[in-house]
Amino acid sequence: MRNYLVAGNWKMNGDMASNRELVAGIVAGAPDTDRVKLLICPPFPYLAAMAQATADSTVVVGAQSVSEHASGAYTGEVSPQMLLDCGCEYAIVGHSERRSLYLESSAAVASKFKAALEAGLRPILCVGESLEEREAGSTEAVIDEQLNAVLDTVGVAGLETAVIAYEPVWAIGTGMTATPEQAQEVHKHIRGVLAGHDAAIAESTQILYGGSMKGENAAGLLAMPDIDGGLIGGASLKSADFLAIAEAAAQG
Ligand code: 13P
Repeated sequence: MRNYLVAGNWKMNGDMASNRELVAGIVAGAPDTDRVKLLICPPFPYLAAMAQATADSTVVVGAQSVSEHASGAYTGEVSPQMLLDCGCEYAIVGHSERRSLYLESSAAVASKFKAALEAGLRPILCVGESLEEREAGSTEAVIDEQLNAVLDTVGVAGLETAVIAYEPVWAIGTGMTATPEQAQEVHKHIRGVLAGHDAAIAESTQILYGGSMKGENAAGLLAMPDIDGGLIGGASLKSADFLAIAEAAAQG
């Protein structure tokens, strides 16, 4: 049986004082069950401090992005090893904001995934379609292209310690959530693609839903058989909101 992963993507928010307060609230209220793991992904400058703040808890820390390079003249970039050094266990790759605002191609995302994995981080691969793509009936084709770029680069074995997050672009930050049935349909498809390569890895891989997940809609989404947690933006910025989702997972 797969456990739940409830992950907060803080995006570019907060400052040292407010982030310390947020992490303290999350640590204090984390559900006391092995069934649910909580992950926070603060901006780069706060990673080390947040890792220290969670050191004696079950909450773990991840980065929102990672360089595909190990070191050198890459101004503004942060290597996988640096993230490990700061206490990260996970790194998000291919978030739709990185793909659309910073023009990260699926090939670049696959390189980042590979670099993170080889360094010992657990990549969280984000995939998802835009509203136009959904309306054109190409949701599965878009997901397949994003997923296959990674599968072609690292093979299905590369997914063994990784996580996939389905984040329909039209649901991110819009308050428009995919229905549990819509999300389940895509999650099932993703698991099917993995099963085409390796049944055991398909069965064990956690697939998170992201896109306006909050306390009020989490239980319905998490009740779906192929939804193993959430990647949460807005509702991860207040400990009570984030913990409401964690609690829904603990009850699920
Ligand atoms: P929201 O929860 O704010 O829609 O953001 C989702 C997201 O992008 C998480 O990575």
